[in-house]
Amino acid sequence: MATSASATLLKFCFSLALFCFPFIAFASDNHTHHQYFFQCLSLNSANSTSISKIIYTPINSTYTSVLDLSIQNLRFRTPYVPKPLVIVTPLDVSEAKAVVYCTRKTGLQLLVRSGGHDYEGQSYISSAPFVILDLSNLRSITIDVEDATAWVGSGATLGEVYYRIGEKSKTLGFPAGICPTVGVGGHFSGGGYGSMMRKYGLAADNIIDAHIIDVNGNLLDRESMGEDHFWAIRGGGGGTFGVVVSWKIKLVVVPETVTILAAVRTENVTNLVHKWQYIAPDFPKELYMSLILQSAVGQDGNPTMRATFNTLYLGGVDELLNITGTRFPELGLTREECLETRWVNSTLIFSGITGQPLETLLNRRSNTRVYFKNKSDYVKEPMSETVLEEIWEWILKEDPGVEVMQWEPYGGRMSEISESALPFPHRAGNVFKIHYMTSWTNGSAEESNRHLNWIRSFYGFMAAHVSKSPRSAYLNYRDLDIGRNNEYGSTSYEQASVWGTKYFNMNFDRLVKVKTAVDPDNFFRNEQSVPPFSQFSQCGSGSYIE
Ligand SMILES: Cc1cc2nc3c(=O)[nH]c(=O)nc-3n(C[C@H](O)[C@H](O)[C@H](O)COP(=O)(O)OP(=O)(O)OC[C@H]3O[C@@H](n4cnc5c(N)ncnc54)[C@H](O)[C@@H]3O)c2cc1C
Ligand SMILES: *[C@@H]1O[C@H](CO)[C@@H](O)[C@H](O)[C@H]1NC(C)=O
Ligand SMILES: *[C@@H]1O[C@H](CO)[C@@H](O)[C@H](O)[C@H]1NC(C)=O
Ligand SMILES: *[C@@H]1O[C@H](CO)[C@@H](O)[C@H](O)[C@H]1NC(C)=O
Ligand SMILES: *[C@@H]1O[C@H](CO)[C@@H](O)[C@H](O)[C@H]1NC(C)=O
Ligand SMILES: *[C@@H]1O[C@H](CO)[C@@H](O)[C@H](O)[C@H]1NC(C)=O
Ligand SMILES: *[C@@H]1O[C@H](CO)[C@@H](O)[C@H](O)[C@H]1NC(C)=O
Ligand SMILES: *[C@@H]1O[C@H](CO)[C@@H](O)[C@H](O)[C@H]1NC(C)=O
Ligand SMILES: *[C@@H]1O[C@H](CO)[C@@H](O)[C@H](O)[C@H]1NC(C)=O
Repeated sequence: MATSASATLLKFCFSLALFCFPFIAFASDNHTHHQYFFQCLSLNSANSTSISKIIYTPINSTYTSVLDLSIQNLRFRTPYVPKPLVIVTPLDVSEAKAVVYCTRKTGLQLLVRSGGHDYEGQSYISSAPFVILDLSNLRSITIDVEDATAWVGSGATLGEVYYRIGEKSKTLGFPAGICPTVGVGGHFSGGGYGSMMRKYGLAADNIIDAHIIDVNGNLLDRESMGEDHFWAIRGGGGGTFGVVVSWKIKLVVVPETVTILAAVRTENVTNLVHKWQYIAPDFPKELYMSLILQSAVGQDGNPTMRATFNTLYLGGVDELLNITGTRFPELGLTREECLETRWVNSTLIFSGITGQPLETLLNRRSNTRVYFKNKSDYVKEPMSETVLEEIWEWILKEDPGVEVMQWEPYGGRMSEISESALPFPHRAGNVFKIHYMTSWTNGSAEESNRHLNWIRSFYGFMAAHVSKSPRSAYLNYRDLDIGRNNEYGSTSYEQASVWGTKYFNMNFDRLVKVKTAVDPDNFFRNEQSVPPFSQFSQCGSGSYIE
């Protein structure tokens, strides 16, 4: 396509955007924005004195600490990263509604933040002038043991959810992510998997109602938003379909005693991992055996591959040893490697924290913050031993322990749920998921580029061995390398579907339809939010969906 034609198209789209957002003309004038925004907020809140206590602008001395509080990835904590004009931390839903209404009215961009764990900082970075609606104060958790349900505020962390459930019951749990500081808001919006996914599916599979603030500042529940909208918010990605303030979840049954272990192996790794591909996805649903692959220093002082079999079994150690002894004798699992405990204790230990009180689950801040870049893939056919050896070469050529792969076994409940039940499409037909991670602590450009280059080249190498057309990816492991929306103006359907089909496969089109119905002007947006049809149709991209 000729460059000049694209440029004209872009200008056309941009002028349309101006038309849709009349206030955007003030975009470069912070002062005007502030005034409009504050006037609007005090007019629209019940108590203007109390609202001033939850507003932070760069003149407030606490602005930086409030902003940094939940930023997980140090890559996005540098002075070069654009900062919000305003951060608002509502104490109740009516204040959150006023923030949505006034941000839209002022022509600013709104970013919603719950736990701030977004891999690409999409809850606190934008190139347009923006407001952060930080939900960390909206984190109440109300559990109904009789009914085995709970209402959970989006600002709660997974650790808080697990702790509160454990406080009320020894036999209830919830299937969500492994890291306790992850926020409910973003996690549930993107799917949310963890060590009970083979038994109970994703967090999103266990959501039965939600309260959401729509683009007009109205509060809706499942019934008033309708089934399409309710479908979209369970996996279609945060920051796209409204602000979810709370979720009603279905709690699941767990045995009083579960077994966990992290068996480390440095011998016969190729053999064990090769066999794991055939066995782990076929284990009983109660058994989740994931793999962490990294390099370590061997006994001879040379780098060697290390495989850690991170396992949760929903049952006692005898049964577990019976299963592994029969089906995976090569692993040589021993009783000493296993720990029987309560499910809630297992959530803490599984996250890598041992010897700490259970209250550690309530820590909202993770104390290990690094620079990182992660990516994901889905594997549909087990890989040969030759390919595994090639993978080890990639890992071994970097410093020990720095480059990590996590392999999540599929099968069980994940294969029973239909691909279209929720926007998250990665179900039957997958053997396992790969999670690539690289992290570093020296933020120099040289170090950063080295690690980014490594993960991108390795991902390139892996193309031949993973899902194709589309090469699938997991939205909660957000990766802007796979495609993004244009910074200004509209994004064509073709462009958005490049990353959209990787995350959502066939469900992308339905998400576009829902987005068009609930937010036609694309108020809720980020670099990878599903765009509405109205945006790209006018740009003459030539592709229309029904
Ligand atoms: C250390 C670490 C461990 C992780 N472990 C797991 C794991 O085990 N399993 C797994 O599945 N994922 C895991 N993740 C990924 C995690 O699920 C996603 O990053 C998730 O989106 C984080 O949610 P958040 O609320 O913390 O993030 P945020 O950065 O606050 O939000 C993420 C996105 O959702 C939007 N959003 C946030 N809250 C709302 C809301 N209330 N309404 C609408 N939109 C909202 C934001 O605008 C942003 O676009 C992990 C991430 C990290 C950094
Ligand atoms: C607007 O605010 C941003 C962030 O606070 C700042 O970097 C920028 O210089 C401001 N622009 C103007 C015109 O004041
Ligand atoms: C408004 O909020 C302030 C501070 O939170 C409180 O002291 C005051 O009583 C409130 N006023 C009304 C009318 O509720
Ligand atoms: C930030 O500063 C403004 C102006 O001084 C003040 O009104 C507001 O209460 C401050 N915000 C907080 C959270 O203290
Ligand atoms: C590695 O495999 C060989 C051959 O299968 C076997 O003899 C040996 O015991 C294994 N080593 C370990 C530590 O399991
Ligand atoms: C091991 O499992 C098999 C099959 O479920 C069962 O028949 C056997 O009794 C179990 N053995 C022990 C020691 O639990
Ligand atoms: C779970 O953790 C708590 C707090 O650390 C501890 O008191 C309790 O004994 C543990 N339970 C089990 C079964 O290990
Ligand atoms: C992504 O990688 C970083 C750095 O290795 C790590 O801290 C984080 O936990 C990873 N995400 C998940 C879900 O494991
Ligand atoms: C970080 O890396 C750069 C370049 O690789 C190096 O010059 C610098 O000394 C390092 N800084 C620290 C604190 O290690």
